[in-house]
Amino acid sequence: MSNEIDALLQEHRSFPPSDEFRRNANANDESVYDVADREAYWASWAEQLDWQTKWHTVLEWNAPYAKWFVGGKLNASANCLDRHLATRGDKPALIWEGEPGDVRTFTYRELHAQVSKFANVLKSLGVRLGDRVAIYMPLVPEAVIAMLACARIGAAHSVVFGGFSSEALRDRIQDAEAKVLITATAGYRRGNLVPLKKLADAAADDCPSIEHVVVVMRRAAADELDDTVSMKPDRDCWYHELMREASADCEPEWVDSEQMLYTLYTSGTTGKPKGIVHTTGGYLTEAYATCKWVFDLKEDDVYWCTADIGWVTGHSYVVYGPLAAGATVFVYEGAPDWPKQDRFWSLIEKHKISIFYTAPTAIRAFMKWGHELPEAHDLSSLRLLGSVGEPINPEAWMWYHKWIGRERCPIVDTWWQTETGSIMITPLPGLVATKPGSATRAFPGIDAKILDEGGNEVKVGGGYLAITTPWPSMLRGIWRDPERFESQYWAKWPGIYFTGDGAKRDEDGYFWLLGRVDDVINVAGHRIGTMEVESALVDHQAVAEAAVVGINHEIKGTAIAAFVIVKSSRAEEAKRDPAKFEKELKDHVSAKIGAIARPEKILVTVDLPKTRSGKIMRRLLRDIAEGRALGDVTTLADPTVVASLKDKYEEES
Ligand code: WTA
Repeated sequence: MSNEIDALLQEHRSFPPSDEFRRNANANDESVYDVADREAYWASWAEQLDWQTKWHTVLEWNAPYAKWFVGGKLNASANCLDRHLATRGDKPALIWEGEPGDVRTFTYRELHAQVSKFANVLKSLGVRLGDRVAIYMPLVPEAVIAMLACARIGAAHSVVFGGFSSEALRDRIQDAEAKVLITATAGYRRGNLVPLKKLADAAADDCPSIEHVVVVMRRAAADELDDTVSMKPDRDCWYHELMREASADCEPEWVDSEQMLYTLYTSGTTGKPKGIVHTTGGYLTEAYATCKWVFDLKEDDVYWCTADIGWVTGHSYVVYGPLAAGATVFVYEGAPDWPKQDRFWSLIEKHKISIFYTAPTAIRAFMKWGHELPEAHDLSSLRLLGSVGEPINPEAWMWYHKWIGRERCPIVDTWWQTETGSIMITPLPGLVATKPGSATRAFPGIDAKILDEGGNEVKVGGGYLAITTPWPSMLRGIWRDPERFESQYWAKWPGIYFTGDGAKRDEDGYFWLLGRVDDVINVAGHRIGTMEVESALVDHQAVAEAAVVGINHEIKGTAIAAFVIVKSSRAEEAKRDPAKFEKELKDHVSAKIGAIARPEKILVTVDLPKTRSGKIMRRLLRDIAEGRALGDVTTLADPTVVASLKDKYEEES
């Protein structure tokens, strides 16, 4: 880690926007950074949305509880759809391509009709204002339609990433007490069909709150019969059948600004994911504002954010932000290397994508696959690139700049979190000279600071990243767990939001993100709690104890290494065929949580090094897993080894 920080400190390259980009940018005057009256500033953004009733108070702040645009009434789907009908009715809102190559386009008018119909379907299934609806879907247009339909009737969606296991889905449905689950027969991934309905059944059967399961038929070609799903009478219904009957006339429910728009589960420092709660007015305002200024959205842009709707990026920057801004959003269902490793570049060429927003882990994979692949495509439609999800290493940044941006396109490295709802630290592409690896400056109106343990600001240097004043799209809580909300984010320094990230600031005031400082690992841009993986491991009958750490990984950034103590009754078996045993444990974690949590390495040990107070010495474990403490990790089977390493580390620290 310290080597990486040193390397970042030596990063002095700087890339100012071109005069042309600056001239045309939505934010092109440095004065946007002078926000004297924060509330008036955010109110001026909110005024650009449609409100059925205007707010009477911009902000009520009883730390850590915020209410924005109090007294206002609006509807998120009306802001994403209805308000564009007069001026953009025939403009494509959504251009979608499935992994097999099937393409569907929806104009704003068409998307509005589909959403209105599905909103009526949800109503007919008994969904009402304030109810929760779970969505477990591949990245197909119906997923976007389902989200907006929930918003239209004031129901909160809880989207669960389609790569999560049945158990993970079940836990999230149970926690939110969702009434309806929307899923699909399957989704395409690397040419295979992921059997979502089957996985959804395993979850829904254990969820008494679920009254109906709505199933979208995902079939790329008419001759490809998908007869593998079973439909439970009275509970399960086909999406296409319900839609056939539904009226396209659905008045939006005008909800309070603070009405919950959605909950989205994310990993934290305990074994149980938390349901982050976002509400309507403030969230939409900031998702919209950041789209306008960070992505510099213009009327003729074709914008592609590669995130899945299962993550917050898919909420704010596939659905709510860009549609509120009236953009043309491109969505692709499948894998970047299917059928070949140039799929993304061919999609950019084919659909003339102008703004491309992806994750560093993807960029590192592209680097590995070679620049010849993008080089063979016409990427001249691109004008702006973005990065999100984890720190981008300067090498990947330079590659992105050179081979994708062709040294013309600004790169916006955007830092934010599920909890923040919108981008918080980012360059404004027409104003800020970027430096490879730095997320640069706080978005105007955002008070981001580096604090030390005692809460003192560090002007130049490293510490914890904190947000010191409330912002419109901030989380309003953790679903049904106010104590955890308060202790997790607000206990370190009262009234100040603790991000869980370490960062430093350089002499120019630029932020450099250094990764998590808590027990959360960022694997390929996805948050996984070490405790979640540990509980999944000890759930296996052969495992007595487990400790999980993040280790460096060429593509994923961080990967999971798990140390396990095997129960004595199973120790012989683990020794006899270690490869088989390791695979069994890895499969177990995948089945419990999902493939994203699958450990890269399993290390069987007889002891776990703990401090005198019983805390696992994770730094030592990382050093062992990355081969620094021990040349040959297999010697961990010798009980004296861990003990002597522990003594050595305790002496050092
Ligand atoms: C990390 C994703 C460095 C960070 C939007 C944060 C980043 C966590 C960046 C949130 C970035 C996100 N540079 N680190 N540009 N963007 N992170 O909730 O550790 O899935 O706390 O939200 O990702 O992950 P989440």
